Amino acid sequence: MNQPQSLDDVLATYREHGHRHYGEDVTELQHALQCATFAQQAGEPDVIIASALLHDYGHLCHQLGEDIADRGVDARHEHIGYNKLKGLLADEIVDSARLHVAAKRYLCWKEPQYLTDLSAASLQSLHLQGGPMNDEEAAEFEREPHFDIAVRVRRYDDMGKVTDMQTPSLEDFAPMLQRFVLKAA
Ligand SMILES: [Fe+2]
Repeated sequence: MNQPQSLDDVLATYREHGHRHYGEDVTELQHALQCATFAQQAGEPDVIIASALLHDYGHLCHQLGEDIADRGVDARHEHIGYNKLKGLLADEIVDSARLHVAAKRYLCWKEPQYLTDLSAASLQSLHLQGGPMNDEEAAEFEREPHFDIAVRVRRYDDMGKVTDMQTPSLEDFAPMLQRFVLKAA
């Protein structure tokens, strides 16, 4: 899959591959739209809504199949998404995509209840992703730029798994997303 050159390219990937199964009862596109919608409903600023929408972009770019977690494979999709979107979209968005898996491991360290509340699929992938952070990893994570945004996005990531939820469309979010496209890209 080529490097996206514009927001249109990014959105085209969602249209083309968004039907992929997210891992619970929703598709990748539904998951993305639900995460953005939950962030919007919570009154979050646009940068969080945009980050919530795009955090799993890497899931749409790999060719490893939709059942990779069941096969014990971690596609490291957070790095795929980061590398695809870096330079095209604002740093907050690409950093939170890169850090959203680490944010889950961080929250498991910070809030024991968070770990208890994880869905079965999230727990399965947590295991592949290295389990909860230790103190050293958590301190390192807190030194990352935009780790706080990644943690906020993570809350909506965990919510975006609702069967048959009505959300705005990709096109509805597009004008807001366009404001985070870097001019230099
Ligand atoms: Fe996600």
